[in-house]
Order: sequence, then structure tokens, then C-alpha cells
Amino acid sequence: MSVATLKPSDDVIEYLAAHEKKSMLRFITCGSVDDGKSTLIGRLLYDSKLLYDDQISALESDTKKHGTQGEKIDFALLVDGLAAEREQGITIDVAYRFFSTEKRKFIVADTPGHEQYTRNMATGASTADVAVILVDARRGVLTQTRRHSYIVSLLGIRHIVVAINKMDLVDYSESTFDKIEADYRVFAKDLGFETITCIPMSALEGVNITKQSSETPWYQGSALLPYLETIKVRGALAEKPFRLPVQWVNRPNLDFRGFSGTVASGTIRPGDEIVVLPSAKRSIVKSIVTHDGELTEAHPDMAVTLTLEDEIDISRGDVICAGKAPAEQTDQFAAHLLWMNEEALYPGRQYLLKTANRMIPATVTELKHKINVNTLEHMSGKTLELNEVGFCNFNLAQPIAFDCYKDNRRTGAFILIDRRTNATIGAGMIDFSLRRAKNVHWQDLDVNKNARSSAKHQKPCVLWFTGLSGSGKSTVANLVEKRLHDMGRHTYTLDGDNVRHGLNKDLGFTDADRVENIRRVGEAARLMADAGLIVLVSFISPFQSERRMARELLEDGEFIEVYISTPLEVCEQRDVKGLYARARRGEIKNFTGIDSDYEAPENAEIDLNTAEVSAEVAANRIVEYLESKGYLEG
Ligand code: ADX
Repeated sequence: MSVATLKPSDDVIEYLAAHEKKSMLRFITCGSVDDGKSTLIGRLLYDSKLLYDDQISALESDTKKHGTQGEKIDFALLVDGLAAEREQGITIDVAYRFFSTEKRKFIVADTPGHEQYTRNMATGASTADVAVILVDARRGVLTQTRRHSYIVSLLGIRHIVVAINKMDLVDYSESTFDKIEADYRVFAKDLGFETITCIPMSALEGVNITKQSSETPWYQGSALLPYLETIKVRGALAEKPFRLPVQWVNRPNLDFRGFSGTVASGTIRPGDEIVVLPSAKRSIVKSIVTHDGELTEAHPDMAVTLTLEDEIDISRGDVICAGKAPAEQTDQFAAHLLWMNEEALYPGRQYLLKTANRMIPATVTELKHKINVNTLEHMSGKTLELNEVGFCNFNLAQPIAFDCYKDNRRTGAFILIDRRTNATIGAGMIDFSLRRAKNVHWQDLDVNKNARSSAKHQKPCVLWFTGLSGSGKSTVANLVEKRLHDMGRHTYTLDGDNVRHGLNKDLGFTDADRVENIRRVGEAARLMADAGLIVLVSFISPFQSERRMARELLEDGEFIEVYISTPLEVCEQRDVKGLYARARRGEIKNFTGIDSDYEAPENAEIDLNTAEVSAEVAANRIVEYLESKGYLEG
């Protein structure tokens, strides 16, 4: 075999080179099967893919024969839409299809159109430049048309094709088309689209799909495929300011120090000035290193390592930005949130907020309003349910570097993760920073927790009693406090029934209210521990998340979870306050253990069942625990 035959044929090289130069358009199709979506996608693939297949099969046989790796480039394109979501840990039901024509390469995201699949649609839309919204010419603009349009606008798509399909069934009526177009434009005027292009078509008959059809002589615009081949999408990621979320610091030896990550947006070249957030230190790019050697420039989605002219401190989680256009930083912002979880969003509950390179505890401090995705109306609400969209204020444990979503879909987006299950439960788009954080600082006080607790000769701690109503929490807590008091200790008890008469009298027993109830009590307990007290908290506190949050507000060892594990049957039989009987009769709603959940602690420091031990014995055990662990020394 001669050396020459080992090379791919000139045709293939030429094809690959031309193919590489083609621009890429990502679009999403929205509509249900009934609207003819599958037919439309089928048509597009059929009419364009053959070309691609022909040439690619030649390439494939060549590469098989000669063992080159030539097909790699295109294969990556086929799957990269999926890879992005996989990185984010979202399991979704979106099919990404790849096809190409002579002019352009396409990735089409195809998502189920039903209402409950809002999240799939959002996932598909988040990377798309154009949305093709299908409308059945016989039915016109429907609720689902509005929902699809709103979601794609929320996810930052600025170019809409309204594919008015099944025109054959309305005799290619111009007036029907005009009416639907007018209706759509009225409805969509506030959605911020840059272009709305309405195309009359019949996917079934192939009318106005790949070329303008004689069936619609009154239509002067372009057919769908030529439109998709030529539309200019401004604001592509490469044109945005440079952002590199640092994934790791690459330091193989003392002579090399590089900062690695995937370019989120913008273009960078050696010699460019950069600024690193949060430190705001500046430097100049010295080199761009990759597996395949040094580059003269890097673009979005490329995995690179930057070296800098100056030795500055950069760690994982930092963001390297264009020197002239750095990102913003904040620990409070307003954002639109799409909720993807069976369990509702509760303001006040702590979730993990994940950006490209960071994971930070965060809470929704306020749900400002919900948006009815079918009518676009704003509604008030205390929680967000599965597939709902809300406009929320967020508070983060630490500041992040970000851009507003409308400016940068990469650095303006985040997902929320459930701390217990690690599931992705929400997708967010940052609208703007809330600047309150800047003028509220921690005040350093000369008399601090140490000073206050040593004056009291004790170590502060929080004994957190959790368990069902009637389990004996308050009885045991009361005995413990008496014992401690007799020993000269400084204590305070926060009891559910009492606190609900004052600080928390605005709260009821919905899950959302209980989350807020415990959040406030956790904060109050923290302040009291800071005052040097031994704090006894006696609340049902049914959810692990909030007990964990209360624990994390305190220093290691300060939080002692006391699970009063008296079983439901016993509590109900005791029914000291007569509440179980009323709950069983349906007179009290959301009663813990009856029609509201109790999540038992998994790692409580102390577990006591008052069906097995008396309240006195239980109290003794707790005091012994405190003594044995040194809490009462001093
Ligand atoms: S928690 O779930 O938010 O932690 P909390 O401890 O403050 O509850 O209040 C529980 C007390 O409120 C119970 O001991 C009981 O006296 C009373 N209560 C009234 N309605 C309910 C209800 N629906 N569920 C539980 N407790 C209730």
C-alpha cells in the first residue's frame, strides 16, 4: 500500500473543509404532534440529510479503510447539545437532531409539546437561536402557542418563525394566514422578539418548506429552509465579552501555572487584558494552551488553559473576564425561575445554586409573583409548583460573578439543586442584581460570643427538639431547662406554640409557612447562642432541610438535635390538645402525621422515645449528654 492511499480522498478533504466553514444554527421546534411537528422535522431532515449522508458515508468508508479519525468533528456536533445538559445533571426528554445543507449546519431541538413538559422545552430553548412555533391554520393562535412563545422568550430566543401549517386544509387562504399573523403579532408584542416571521406552509405537501410554492402566490417571503439558512443571528456567544469560569488551576510543576476551563463566551488572544473576579486583579494573557498545542485565539465552548503575564492568585470558582467588560458581582439578585420538581419551591429553604464553576447555598427570599405561562398574567403565590415560572429574589451565601441573562445566556443562567437528593429542581435566569447587600455589613462587636459565654461560665449550644405534636418535646425541654437553671446555667426556650403567638403569628401550617417558621426560629436560636445562652428549641420542625439549615447557622458542635421519636399512634392516643381528633375529623388541615409529612432525622445526636422512657429519664439523659460532652464545664 502506498503512502498516498492512506490519506482521505481530496473530495472528502474538500467536503470537510467546506463543512467546517459553514455556520451553525440551533433552533427549537414547538408544537404538538397534531400540529404536524414530526412531519415538518421529517421533511427538513429528508430534504437535507441525503446530501450529508452521501458524503459522510464516503468519508466513513474511507476512514474505516484507512483508520484515520476524520469523522470525529461532525460526530461531536451531533451530540454536543446533549452534552451540555448532561453536564448540568438534568435528565430531560429532548431529542437533538443534526442536519446540514450546503449553506449551513443545524441542530434542532425537538421537545414534547404538552404542558407538563415545560421544562423540556426550556432545556431545548436555552441553547437555541431561533424558535419555530407551529400553528395549525385551522385553529389559529392557541393557549399552547402563547405558552411556547413565552417560554422561548424567557429562555432568551429573539427570533421566531411562526410556521402556519396545514394551509392545504384551509385552501391556502391568504385571509386565514393574515388573521393568524395579526393575532400573533398582537399577542407577542411585549415578548421582546427581534424578528417574527410568519410562513404559510404545508409540511405534509412540502409547501414552502425548502422552496417557495406556487400554492401561495400571495406570499412573497421565503420558505422555511432558505430562511433558516440565511437568518443572521446577532449576539452570538462569540461576540459577547470574554468569560472563562475557572474549573481548575493547572500546576504540573513550579514553572507552569495555567487556569483551565471552557470558554463561556467571547474570544481571547494572547496579549489581551483580563480581569479576574472576585479579586479584580488584572493581567495580560500570555498563552492559550490546549491538548493540541498553543492557540492564537479561543472561542466559546473550547476547553483551554490560559497562562498570564503576572503571578496573580486565581482559584477554582473564579471567573476570568475581558479587562474592559468584566461581569458583575452580587450575592442578591432577582431572577426568573422555572420550577422542575414535584415538591414545591419554598421561599426560605436553602438550595444549592450551581453556575458553570460554582455551587453555593442559596435561598429564595421572596417570590414576587408567578407567571401564568398560558396567559402571561402575573399571580401572587407562596410557592412554585412543578413547571411553574416565578419571579424571585435570591440570596446567596457568597457573591457570584454573573451577567444578566438577556446579555449572556451562559453566565446569566443557573440551576438549583436539592441538597438532599442532588436532583436538579429549578432553572434560573438572572434579571438584575439587588444592591442591598452592598450597604449591609457584619458589624464587629468588641463584646463577642466568647466574651458573653465566658462571663456566663458556659458553652453556648442549641438543643433542637424535633418530633410529632404530642411526642413530649415541650415537656422534656421544660424539664431540661429546669435542671439547667437549677445548676445556675443561662438558658432560654423557644417553643412552637409560644413563638407562633408573637414573632411567627403571621404563619400557618402549610409546608411553605413551616419552612419560614423554622427558618426564623433557626435565626433566633443562632442569635441567642451568640448571646452565650443554652437555647432549647421545641418545634415539630418536620423537614430535614430546615433542621440542616439551623444546624449550619451554628458552629460545629453547637447544634444538638434531639429527636423525640414517640410514634404517631402514641401521640394520637395521648392527644393532649385534642388536635389529632379534630384533624381526623377533617377540622384541621395539614396536620403533621395525618395529612402533612414528618421527615425523621437521620443523624440526631440524641433519640428518645417517651413511650419507652419517662420525661424525667429523657431529661436526665440529655443533661448527662451535655455533661459528658463538656458543655457544662466552666
Ligand atoms: S412546625 O411544623 O412549624 O414546626 P410548630 O412546632 O411551630 O410546627 O407548631 C406545632 C404546634 O401547633 C402543635 O404542637 C400544635 O399544638 C399546633 N398545631 C395547630 N395546627 C397544627 C397542624 N396543622 N399541624 C401541626 N401542629 C399544629
